[in-house]
Amino acid sequence: MSTFKNKVAIITGSSQGIGKTLAIEMCKKGASVVLNGRTASKLTKTQEELKLLGHNVIAIKGDITSLKDCKRIVDKTIQAFGQIDFLINNGSITMQDEIDCIETEAFENVFRSNSMGSFFPTKAALPFLKKTKGSVIFISSLAGLHAMPSASGYSMGKMALSSLWQSLSIELSHTGIHFGICYLSFTQSEKEKTMLTANGNSIPVPKRPNFILQPQKTVAKSIMQVIKYRKSKRVFSIFGKFVAVFLRFFPGIVMRIMILNQKKQQNHALEPV
Ligand SMILES: NC(=O)c1ccc[n+]([C@@H]2O[C@H](COP(=O)([O-])OP(=O)(O)OC[C@H]3O[C@@H](n4cnc5c(N)ncnc54)[C@H](OP(=O)(O)O)[C@@H]3O)[C@@H](O)[C@H]2O)c1
Repeated sequence: MSTFKNKVAIITGSSQGIGKTLAIEMCKKGASVVLNGRTASKLTKTQEELKLLGHNVIAIKGDITSLKDCKRIVDKTIQAFGQIDFLINNGSITMQDEIDCIETEAFENVFRSNSMGSFFPTKAALPFLKKTKGSVIFISSLAGLHAMPSASGYSMGKMALSSLWQSLSIELSHTGIHFGICYLSFTQSEKEKTMLTANGNSIPVPKRPNFILQPQKTVAKSIMQVIKYRKSKRVFSIFGKFVAVFLRFFPGIVMRIMILNQKKQQNHALEPV
């Protein structure tokens, strides 16, 4: 019997990007998936697209930084499918600006979406996950292993996930629920992907060189392996694994490289044009 056949997954932040690709891949293996996001138009478009492919999906609009919304998402999932086997805490917003200039509200939005945005859905779904002895997956990032410049609120949120994942793994080990954390490396993004600037405006994410990016489908399949083999922790991509090993043995060198790079960029920004 396939790990995913006749199982029910809630994937937060699945109206686009990695969450949407994961929804498609899980559906292909026979799962029913609850799509989620805050923007109704994006969510409906994705739901229709997946239904046309013959997949069993429903879409529930909701903000994962609101416990009330998360309880509603869980209740509606139970009404529709009667069970929850997998909760993928994927929804997130990212940012691009330094602490010195960022408005605290923008910082807090980023931090909350990456921290409370995983805690609230987990808290709401736990009673049902206990019944199925299902999986809770936290989608983190290399920014959850080491702070990234101009992404302080994002890194802080992703690091909080490591702590949440550890606490749950210890406190709820008797329940049979599997808790896994995925430290994603640079991944191909939707052209619609945005990030918050210092004043809270959304701008498109900058393009990264293609060779460093993992395809979304590869990432989705790796997340499914973490679920299938009930792995507790996985760092994604060869680059990510290299970074993790380097960080473990040479944390001082990583910090030094980052500081030198930051100084170079700040000096460059100060140069007269
Ligand atoms: N792409 C990468 O290179 C990369 C690298 C490392 C880790 N990751 C992680 O992978 C996950 C997915 O990234 P992605 O690139 O696919 O991001 P994305 O394209 O920006 O998609 C984010 C999704 O989350 C939803 N969302 C954001 N805030 C939400 C909220 N408060 N409540 C409900 N839904 C919310 C968005 O829809 P709405 O805006 O409509 O709500 C969207 O569906 C994230 O956790 C990210 O940190 C990505």
